[in-house]
Amino acid sequence: MMRTQVLVALEPDLSVEFAGIKLPNPTILASGILGVSSEIMIRAARAGAGAVITKSFNRKGREGYHNPSFIEVHGSYLNALGIPNPGMEEMKEEIAHVRKAGVRVIASVFGFDAEEFSEAASAGEQAGAMAVELNVSCPHVEEVGIEIGQSPRRVGEVVKAVKKRVRIPVIAKLTPNVTSIQAIAKAAEEAGADALSAVNTALGMAIDVEAGRPILGGVLGGLSGPALHPIAVRAVYQVKETVNIPIIGVGR
Ligand SMILES: Cc1cc2nc3c(=O)[nH]c(=O)nc-3n(C[C@H](O)[C@H](O)[C@H](O)COP(=O)(O)O)c2cc1C
Repeated sequence: MMRTQVLVALEPDLSVEFAGIKLPNPTILASGILGVSSEIMIRAARAGAGAVITKSFNRKGREGYHNPSFIEVHGSYLNALGIPNPGMEEMKEEIAHVRKAGVRVIASVFGFDAEEFSEAASAGEQAGAMAVELNVSCPHVEEVGIEIGQSPRRVGEVVKAVKKRVRIPVIAKLTPNVTSIQAIAKAAEEAGADALSAVNTALGMAIDVEAGRPILGGVLGGLSGPALHPIAVRAVYQVKETVNIPIIGVGR
């Protein structure tokens, strides 16, 4: 008699749940690199991302800085894009399109004050985002990543204002460009943040020695890639020692 064997490949369960966010696996497309058009966000999800985070957007949008805005440095990267984005009305359409495709999407927002942060967050929620990430950490837009992101008081103000405005979970994305990342993390937690992302890019600069001037159009840039990894690991470790809310690790 012939015997048949059926092999069943069991897929491991990689699902995670934190801060009211349920994901099929713990990978998330970080904000900013591929997050402006719905098509590319859907593609990232189809390639396996548990969720996607949009490019950071604000009320009216921004043009960003002139080129060069992204360069390779010692196997890592420096960028000074200046958060170019089409503004919240257009981003609402992109988010709604991503949601329609069944993709879990988190809206990344920024502003020049707490009111603008909350308006953009509310737009993200209305469009169907499952959570909102607050970019209080972009190093090359000084008013956002430095004036707000380096001040525990101002980070707290932004988180509080957004928490008042939306019902979805609020994630504060931290900058490593501070003396004490714990102080910023604590302020965000005390203001009601449901989770934290650590980290955004580290402030850097590149000089063209032949021309005797900075290479990036925006002069100062954010360092990402392999060189950022140990900084990100250190930041997550320090933040974990300080807060009781979940932390999303960012920085390869
Ligand atoms: C070109 C570029 C654009 C980015 N834009 C954003 C952004 O709009 N909002 C944000 O919160 N982070 C932005 N980031 C930061 C990334 O989300 C991430 O925190 C950083 O790149 C570190 O991760 P990595 O080393 O894996 O690239 C950007 C990074 C790059 C390289």
